[in-house]
Amino acid sequence: MSRIWTVESDADYEAWRQVRIAVLPHERCPSVAELRELETPERLLVLAELDGVVVAHGLADRSNEAGRGGISPRVVPAARRRGVGTRLLEVLADHLGALGFHAAGCTVDDEGSVEFARRFGFVETGRQVEQVRRIGAEPWPDKPSEYEIVSVAERPELWPLAYEQVALTTFPDMDVQFPMDVSAQEWATDWINDPAAMFVAVAGDQVIGVAGLLLDTDKPERAEVAYTGVRREWRGKAVGSTLKRTSMAWAAEHGITEIYTWTQEGNANMRRLNEHLGFTYGIVSVNVRAELPLKFPEQPGS
Ligand SMILES: CC(C)(COP(=O)(O)OP(=O)(O)OC[C@H]1O[C@@H](n2cnc3c(N)ncnc32)[C@H](O)[C@@H]1OP(=O)(O)O)[C@@H](O)C(=O)NCCC(=O)NCCS
Repeated sequence: MSRIWTVESDADYEAWRQVRIAVLPHERCPSVAELRELETPERLLVLAELDGVVVAHGLADRSNEAGRGGISPRVVPAARRRGVGTRLLEVLADHLGALGFHAAGCTVDDEGSVEFARRFGFVETGRQVEQVRRIGAEPWPDKPSEYEIVSVAERPELWPLAYEQVALTTFPDMDVQFPMDVSAQEWATDWINDPAAMFVAVAGDQVIGVAGLLLDTDKPERAEVAYTGVRREWRGKAVGSTLKRTSMAWAAEHGITEIYTWTQEGNANMRRLNEHLGFTYGIVSVNVRAELPLKFPEQPGS
């Protein structure tokens, strides 16, 4: 028998994290404190157990696209094909429907999960490729003459400015099907974790570029590359690569041996920049989307 409940206690949050780490072992999972910081009335985290053992979790929340909710049922490999994923999907989709979302979207990494998603009417809307870079001896880049690079730890007041001046002006250039919808609050919590590992390029009173790393407390030797953006009028002047080389040099000095990033398949500029910096390709993940309410195929006997 399976039971599904809403995550509330620290023990629930830790169990939620353990499912995420089991299903996505190569991806950074936020700490309990970070997950708590992301709590909002719209965000639902659930756990599911089968015969008294936690085997799955789910997440439903707003997404970076207006009108679409994010939905993620995840079941540990040993407990799959026993109906838990379907029950979770139902609970999560009901939650998004009750919040007024008209569509749900998710990222899927393997063919079996794509099959599962298709069964409930999800269709592919795009792909993201993983790019991975081993960190060795990474020299600090030469100091640029036209602008300065500082960490957000040194100049915390620049992070909200980077939202206005870089994030909002560069999101439209991403290869996504629908416009990005990221609030200033999300930028302050979800898009940065350690300000010492996040860098901004500043020219006069303008933030002209951002790049950095999201650190992983479970696997301190691996870090995820955070959002990289350079204002349009500053492109072609090595601002992006200088920022990225700065984070790579920082990584080398802080015991990080590998960094990874997800890039939209069609974002040729960012892929080329990463290739130029020595990144190689990892797995491909598929973005899927369905209109709400989802259509659940009739179960035999129901
Ligand atoms: C996708 C996932 C949640 C499915 O969980 P699950 O508990 O195994 O799913 P269910 O048992 O409810 O499967 C329902 C139906 O989906 C289809 N399905 C599920 N997994 C499948 C697979 N690997 N290959 C083909 N069809 C599959 C089948 O039709 C299945 O019914 P059946 O077992 O009677 O044939 C699980 O594989 C998972 O955690 N994947 C990684 C995370 C992920 O990508 N989540 C997002 C999905 S939108």
